[in-house]
Amino acid sequence: MQAKPTHYCEGQARLDPGPGFFRPDSRPARDCGVLLLRWLAQQKGAAKPLVVLDGLAGCGIRSLRYGLEAHATEIWANDADPDRLPLLQGNLSALGGAHCSAITIQKLLAQCAAIEQRFDFVDLDAFGAPMALVPWALEAVRFGGVLYLASTDGRSFTGHDRTAALRRLGAAARAQPCSWELALRLQLGAIARSAWSLGRGIRPLLSFSDGRTFRTAVQVLRSPAPAEEQLLGLQGYCHSCGSHRGVSLLRWRELGACSCGAEPVMSGPLWRGPLQEVAVLAQLLEMEEPGSPLLAPASRRLLQRLQADNGLPAEASDLADLARQLQGGPPKLKDLLCRLQQGGWCAQTSGIAPEQFRTDAPWAEVLAAAKAG
Ligand SMILES: C[S@@+](CC[C@H](N)C(=O)[O-])C[C@H]1O[C@@H](n2cnc3c(N)ncnc32)[C@H](O)[C@@H]1O
Ligand SMILES: [Zn+2]
Repeated sequence: MQAKPTHYCEGQARLDPGPGFFRPDSRPARDCGVLLLRWLAQQKGAAKPLVVLDGLAGCGIRSLRYGLEAHATEIWANDADPDRLPLLQGNLSALGGAHCSAITIQKLLAQCAAIEQRFDFVDLDAFGAPMALVPWALEAVRFGGVLYLASTDGRSFTGHDRTAALRRLGAAARAQPCSWELALRLQLGAIARSAWSLGRGIRPLLSFSDGRTFRTAVQVLRSPAPAEEQLLGLQGYCHSCGSHRGVSLLRWRELGACSCGAEPVMSGPLWRGPLQEVAVLAQLLEMEEPGSPLLAPASRRLLQRLQADNGLPAEASDLADLARQLQGGPPKLKDLLCRLQQGGWCAQTSGIAPEQFRTDAPWAEVLAAAKAG
């Protein structure tokens, strides 16, 4: 029998993943984290301290990569499981001087608040719905720094457990075809509300999902941008005709019934602003160091896909759902987008989920363009 390998290599890191939770296939999320931190370092300027909190560190792979590949100057790596502390310390010994701890992230963030310890980059790779952590995490991010948050509560964030969504997000979540995007927008909406309540603003840099984990990276700004609050809104999905529509909470009465006459199901409050900062993603893609490729091919594809879709307009549609309306096979996405663009509408592939798209064309135009194929 072949012995289980005791080490794992990713980027410039070589470490022992240990027996606990570790997923090699989450590499794109880790690659994105490293690039975001490099980007942040560039924004801050050389020779400035770059302080990172890896709050749910597992075996410490992220911390190790943040140190080796993004040259973080100070790393706090924490995982609540005390049995993993020796593994974490062993894996991070190469960095020399990382702060390793084994307390709950709740306790650690509270301690950081008490001593006014702030970080340039806070990475919370959480299980479940970590919304209770958000205000504490935002408090721990320096102005201009980044909060990189993951959640895995697919059931409530996608509207399959409505009462749990209400408890965890303070929002209505209704199942609909663009469920990954719904989950990301609800998560961003909750982050925005927390940030605003602290007097801060947010700038989403990156949002993506594989259907299991919902990941958002936001830059935390000293104050909200003008009219940022208008980006909090509601989204309606009409089960009868398949249309998705949305509106700012400030004008929620305007959403009304669907043009087909049916009542849409409503989700929100959620974030209706951009999901990606495409100019930043372009910079991330240029950030690999010559001679030491950092990105796995899947990570590069992910970033390229996201770079082509800033997430606006905020309502996406699903090709299979459109086919259901047409009572036929789905049109080719490329052809459909081309016809809409020829009609003068914005139309683009969604970077969030395969075979989804977004357009500012009214739904009747989309149906007509799809039928014309
Ligand atoms: C998704 S895993 C982290 C994986 C790691 N970031 C990676 O990229 O491989 C989540 C980790 O959170 C830890 N954890 C669970 N609840 C926690 C809490 N309340 N505070 C801190 N750590 C916690 C678990 O022990 C687990 O190792
Ligand atoms: Zn309708």
